[in-house]
Amino acid sequence: MAILDLIKNRRSVRSYSAETVSDEVLNDVLEAGRLAPSACNYQPWIFIVIRERENRLRMSTVYNRDWFFNAPVIICVCCNRNESWHRKDNKDFGDIDIAIAVDHMTLAAQEAGLGTCWIGNFDSRIASQLLNLPAHIEPVIVTPLGYPLSKDKTAQKIRKSSGDIIYYESYRNGAQ
Ligand SMILES: Cc1cc2nc3c(=O)[nH]c(=O)nc-3n(C[C@H](O)[C@H](O)[C@H](O)COP(=O)(O)O)c2cc1C
Repeated sequence: MAILDLIKNRRSVRSYSAETVSDEVLNDVLEAGRLAPSACNYQPWIFIVIRERENRLRMSTVYNRDWFFNAPVIICVCCNRNESWHRKDNKDFGDIDIAIAVDHMTLAAQEAGLGTCWIGNFDSRIASQLLNLPAHIEPVIVTPLGYPLSKDKTAQKIRKSSGDIIYYESYRNGAQ
């Protein structure tokens, strides 16, 4: 599928079938994340793949939605803060690197017919404990990964219009 079609068709999926995700497909999704670009090519990411049912159930304490912990796979994408690039003014680019890796994975998943849902509103402290993370490795995004239970064809992609967000040459206040 062409990249723009993939982007147009991707939706956050909040309902998953129990169908297993094969190692081959899972590895393709992880590979898409591994190959993502990053600031200075520091690749500060760690991908934790949670497939065991017991461990997925434990993840309900991190984000308590059944569509999340019942999905056959959960991926926690973490940032190694000792490895992320910092600009001269000390801005940490780690979260940006993580977002690019996650976006690569969500699109690779979409291409394979799988669903994902970015989750940022989880309990990071509990996730760190459950996943045995040292202090410098921060969980940034978790996503379920699995086959969508139902395709909600009515789901609209709600976005601002191009006119509201794109400016040429310089920003202007007010309507264009
Ligand atoms: C950084 C980030 C964090 C998000 N966190 C959550 C979340 O905690 N829970 C959730 O259900 N959706 C979460 N979402 C999904 C957004 O709500 C969703 O992407 C947005 O509404 C657009 O819908 P779409 O993904 O179907 O196009 C998050 C998305 C992003 C990019």
